[in-house]
Amino acid sequence: MAAPLDSSAKDLEAMLNATVPRLLRWFETLEDQPSHATECPPEHLAAFREPLPESGRPLEGLLDRLIDDVVPWSFNTAGPGYLAYVPGGGLPSTAVAELFAAITNRYAGVCAAAPVAVEIETQVLRWLCELMGMPKGALGVMTTGGSLSNFIGAVAARHDRLGEDLTGACAYVSSEIHHCMTKALRLAGIPSAGIRTVPVDDQFRLDPSALRALILEDRAAGKRPFLVCASAGTVNTGAIDPLTDIADLCADEDLWFHVDGAYGALFRLVPELEAPLRGVERADSLVLDPHKGLFLPYGTGVLLVKDLRALRAAHDADAAYLPPLNEGEEQVDFCNLSPELSRDWRGIRLWLPFMLHGIQAFRDALREKHELAIHAAEAIAQEPGVVLAHAPRLSLFAFRQTFEGLSLEQENRRNEDLLERINHHRRAMLTSTEIDGTFWLRVCVLHLRTHRERVDEALRIVREELRNPGG
Ligand SMILES: Cc1ncc(COP(=O)(O)O)c(C=O)c1O
Repeated sequence: MAAPLDSSAKDLEAMLNATVPRLLRWFETLEDQPSHATECPPEHLAAFREPLPESGRPLEGLLDRLIDDVVPWSFNTAGPGYLAYVPGGGLPSTAVAELFAAITNRYAGVCAAAPVAVEIETQVLRWLCELMGMPKGALGVMTTGGSLSNFIGAVAARHDRLGEDLTGACAYVSSEIHHCMTKALRLAGIPSAGIRTVPVDDQFRLDPSALRALILEDRAAGKRPFLVCASAGTVNTGAIDPLTDIADLCADEDLWFHVDGAYGALFRLVPELEAPLRGVERADSLVLDPHKGLFLPYGTGVLLVKDLRALRAAHDADAAYLPPLNEGEEQVDFCNLSPELSRDWRGIRLWLPFMLHGIQAFRDALREKHELAIHAAEAIAQEPGVVLAHAPRLSLFAFRQTFEGLSLEQENRRNEDLLERINHHRRAMLTSTEIDGTFWLRVCVLHLRTHRERVDEALRIVREELRNPGG
């Protein structure tokens, strides 16, 4: 029988009783599931192009369909073999938090609607500021991911430094910046001519002297430099820009210093990795992505700002039908810190795991990923003909196989084949990138469930395929 739209407590219990065992059965097999499987038969897709049902169908059949016909056809982003792009995890305690948030349906967009729910979300942000070493008074907002956080940061910088006149505005990014940063600048109204690309050094880090020269050149031409966007861990090679030098330059030139730390900044939790990330604490705005560096399921990003007033000033909008909104830093209204009014109760996604596991568990997991990446990179670098773009600074590295006497194009083709052969085993999924016409394979160890055993299995596969050129 179809379920009524509203549920009694018993109906809800029945739905959970149907859902939980199915999810658990699937969860138990994660280790054996393929690392990716996207060659979905066309009939599977066609079967979902169906008329909207006029009346409902039994839950059990719908859940079975999701588990059997939807979830398997994908990158296995919940599994240990996911070494692709920038992995996250799917921390189960966040799933519980999310269930709790959805069932209680608390609204945390304005403080007056749920002061304690807003308080715990604010506390999560205070903790993150502390972990990043940001000064007292820093705070921010939780978002759906790094792209939105970069956008909100760009809007705050624009508003604070340019007001409403965008004439001659110039923002600076390195050639290795994540593409969502340039997209964010465009969406924030900066014309493409004002998005200035700074070259990188031989380690793929923004070159501060080239940055300074470009700023001076733009100033001399009557332009208005206002923002520098640096990376704390690039997506291509894991490079960390010279953050302290860039912070100094921004201070000298009175520019907003934005750091995209979506991949890397959370490694600052590991004491040994504080030094390479030094400078993040000086950011005017800093992007973190807990659905990467804290292993959460997709949907949680963060923007931290040194001066909350600047963020609020850029997003402030009041209306007679809203409850009174706060001005200070003690109690905040998230609707005044980002473009969103209605939103999920996001803070609980991090508050529950922090309280349940403690921060040391996250530190240990991040250290483990860093050490696994070093182990993997050292093993691969020993293979004949293999070169690394750079040893992993955090948990990401790029490599390629070189061949005597082959042109770059031929070599690229060989490396594309190599990637395909490695991934064909379906025990580890790697991805690739291209830098200045050169094709690189990438390994990013950041999945919650990736441990030594799976990395060693992936290494056996990589070795086997490296020694088998041509397949
Ligand atoms: C360095 C960096 N910045 C930004 C992003 C975009 O973040 P999101 O995918 O959460 O929007 C990514 C994603 O991989 C990233 O690696």
